[in-house]
Amino acid sequence: MRMETDRYLTFALTKGRLAEQTLKLLGKVGIECREMQDKATRKLIFVNEELKLRLFLAKGPDVPTYVEYGAADIGVAGKDTILEENRNVYEVLDLGIGKCRMCVCGPASARERLLHHERIRVASKYPNIAKDYFYNKKDQTADIIKLNGSVELGPLVGLSDVIVDIVETGGTLKENGLEVLEVICPLSARMIVNPVSLRMETERIKGLIMRLRGNLA
Ligand code: PRP
Repeated sequence: MRMETDRYLTFALTKGRLAEQTLKLLGKVGIECREMQDKATRKLIFVNEELKLRLFLAKGPDVPTYVEYGAADIGVAGKDTILEENRNVYEVLDLGIGKCRMCVCGPASARERLLHHERIRVASKYPNIAKDYFYNKKDQTADIIKLNGSVELGPLVGLSDVIVDIVETGGTLKENGLEVLEVICPLSARMIVNPVSLRMETERIKGLIMRLRGNLA
């Protein structure tokens, strides 16, 4: 009979801002690979043979994709990405790191347009979140323009009236004469799981969730 731990548990983690805090948190519950400490490495996948773990770092929006297809059993991604990608995965734990908010931002002069539900141009890296907010929650006609970064430029150069974007410290907005006009939702890093993996590896995954829960700030 195949031992339960014969199977590798694969983790897809988000590169960049979230990576360091995620690895620290996972390290606390023993999910780590020695090879990962080498900052200069160009390796993409890290294995812990002893614990039968595999970890890899991917671009945020790809993490729910790896998890939905079962290429990773478990993923860590921002709630923003999870909402935007809307993949078939289970969100099982709020890790309480990378806390920020999804907001409608713009110059103070755009406040009236929002208040009166006038047709509005919205630039965002998150077109699905922006559509859901304006069409379904606010019932406001909006032209959504997809951008890939530095979204604050939108209202500054006249591409859009407002943006839908992440606000953490508020520093970027302030430096560019913009402000939060409406808050859409709070965000943080979440653990997601492939539904089949959760069924096949229930004990291992539930044990991990419990241990992580005990280590959250
Ligand atoms: C994010 C976000 C804002 C900024 C908010 O951008 O899109 O621009 O951080 O943070 P703050 O409130 O602390 O200033 P990121 O740096 O990830 O890069 P991007 O603009 O290229 O998406």
